[in-house]
Amino acid sequence: MNIVVGNVKGGVGKTTSAVYLAAAAAARGRGPVVLVDSDPQGSAAEWLEQSPLDGVELVEAPSERTVIRALAGSDGTVVVDTPPGDERIVRAALRRADVVVIPTRAGGVEPTRVLTTLEMTPEDVACGIVVCAARLGTNDLEATIEDWSSAKVPVWGVIPERVAIAAGPAARISREGLEAYQDVLRRAVRAAAR
Ligand SMILES: Nc1ncnc2c1ncn2[C@@H]1O[C@H](COP(=O)(O)OP(=O)(O)OP(=O)(O)O)[C@@H](O)[C@H]1O
Ligand SMILES: [Mg+2]
Repeated sequence: MNIVVGNVKGGVGKTTSAVYLAAAAAARGRGPVVLVDSDPQGSAAEWLEQSPLDGVELVEAPSERTVIRALAGSDGTVVVDTPPGDERIVRAALRRADVVVIPTRAGGVEPTRVLTTLEMTPEDVACGIVVCAARLGTNDLEATIEDWSSAKVPVWGVIPERVAIAAGPAARISREGLEAYQDVLRRAVRAAAR
């Protein structure tokens, strides 16, 4: 199963979500698990070099050609981190996705970039949103969840803002974060099977 994590907007939580989803897939025994870093910045690759994850293999694929090859078929779970800018790479990944996870933030200017990402995804591919670094109990968050529900875009998860998650590779995978992303993974897998 190819799970593509994408949003054309930068800094929303793509890399964090891709790493945690790969960790969640490995913890669930959905192996072999491959984390594909298609971002030329190599943030996911750096993360795993500094802090390897049990049962997750890293593949760097920072071009259209290499990401196509990396998504060419696997018996396990492939999670792809995508760059914010390079539309060719993002499109190549989205076209080969079984399911697309779109990290976003609560509030403001976020929706238009999510919609752009949804438009780039083939129509028959299931997509869901993950609200990252969320401040639980805020009006902004409630409004964001309501807006996506009325737009008929499923919200697969709300990941709370946590220091342990923000620490990235400098800390261990946060248990709370892992549990939240395991729920996201479960919903994504269920949606892909439909
Ligand atoms: N749940 C969270 N709690 C706290 N901080 C978070 C959380 N999720 C993500 N962040 C932080 O938000 C910032 C952006 O996250 P990340 O690097 O994953 O985004 P990105 O979409 O991959 O960015 P880019 O577009 O540059 O690749 C990082 O500093 C990350 O640590
Ligand atoms: Mg990133």
